[in-house]
Formats: sequence, C-alpha cells, structure tokens
Amino acid sequence: MDAEQLRQYLEFYQDLGVKSLYRRTVVAPAAPAAPAVEVAPPAPMELPPLAPSDDTLLKIIQDIGDCRRCKLHEGRNKIVFGVGNEQAPLVFVGEGPGADEDAQGIPFVGRAGQLLTQMIEGTARKEGMNLLRNDIYIANVVKCRPPENRTPEPEEMEICGQFLHRQLMAIRPKAICALGGTAARALTGHKEGVTKMRGKWFKWQDIPVMVTYHPSYLLRAYNVEPKREAWEDLKKLLHYVYD
Ligand code: URA
Repeated sequence: MDAEQLRQYLEFYQDLGVKSLYRRTVVAPAAPAAPAVEVAPPAPMELPPLAPSDDTLLKIIQDIGDCRRCKLHEGRNKIVFGVGNEQAPLVFVGEGPGADEDAQGIPFVGRAGQLLTQMIEGTARKEGMNLLRNDIYIANVVKCRPPENRTPEPEEMEICGQFLHRQLMAIRPKAICALGGTAARALTGHKEGVTKMRGKWFKWQDIPVMVTYHPSYLLRAYNVEPKREAWEDLKKLLHYVYD
C-alpha cells in the first residue's frame, strides 16, 4: 500500500467515526536479498501549479473576492492588494497593511510609505535614474491589516501567501525587494533576523531578492547607520535592475 492509498484508507475510517486504530503484530518473513533495480521509479507526481499560466492581477483580485479565508478579515476595512505597474521589473514586498493602508486600500501610504517613496525616488535620482514609485510594484505578505499591527501569524501568511505568489508569478519582475524580516523570511525561507540578511541577495523561485530594513524600522531607528545601510541596499538593487 503506498502513502496515498494509506491516507485514503485512514480517511475512510475517520469518516466512519473510528477514532483509533491499532497495528496487529506481524511476524515479518525473512527479507529476501534486494534485487537489482529493474523498473525505474515512477515519475514524481505532477502537482497542479500554484499559479495558472495565463494569470493576471485582475484574475487574482477576482479570486480574492471578499476574502474570509483567515481571521484577519474580521478587523479589516479594505483588502490591500497591491499597487503599481503590472509589468514592473522591480517589486517591493512589505509585511502587511497598517491603519492608513487599511483605510485607503493602497499599500505603503502612511508615514512608512512616504519614507519608502522618498527612498526609492531619492536613491534613483542620486544615481542618475529616472524612476518614480508608479514605475515599480508594491505588495505585502498579507493583504488585511493585523490587529494592533501585530506580526502576521504563520497560518495567515500561508493562506494569503498564495496570492502574493500568484502576483509575483504574474509580474515576473527582474528582482524583488523584501522590506523587513517578515517579508524576508516569507520570501526566502531563511530564518535569520533582518540585520543578518540585509544587503544580501537571496532567491524567490529563480528571481533575485534583496533584503533591506522595513521603513517603519528606519523611522524608529535612533542612529543613522541603518538608514545608510538601507540606501546602500537600494543602490545595489536599483543598479542591478535598471543598469
Ligand atoms: N507596512 C507594511 O509592511 N506594509 C504597508 O503597506 C504599510 C506599512
């Protein structure tokens, strides 16, 4: 019996209300010597892709609908899907909407968002690039505001993450910028803190991901060092994408 048959078998008994199973002791016959492999192992199971090949941001919004897939919907005013250019070569990913974003339905429009806009446009200008916030795309790991701006829970990130996955697959940018530890961990699977990860390249699927500080952290940071580091990270990122 393979793993899938065993799963169906157990589900069948569960549906009948059988709560516990026990194993009969089986006296195993002496194992014969293993034969040389004659039959190639079966091809790995084809899993349906997470994102349809002809996906668009519009279809994703339609699929999200009036989402109630996790408990974050209970406190939200607006779903904050994402904003910007659907063909952007660069996508910024934050953690989740705050109060201003929840009220307007647009990511990064509060104080942290204004700093992010200044950082993107200011760095580009200093580096001789003509780049505005509207030229890139901005989204979050979760699309509804967590209560008291708490960090999204793993289950919320997993449920909402399927839509971020589809957004990134539909846009297929040249690079992604993870803003802060939550986005960095969600996109890269690495578990270190942002201080260790910032300024380095990681990968999401086959797309390079640059990790940097979240602008909310930069608003609170007392010394100028993190701000200087974030400008450095952005410079590296913008030159990779636009040179
Ligand atoms: N912080 C985030 O992570 N995302 C927003 O959209 C706003 C603030």
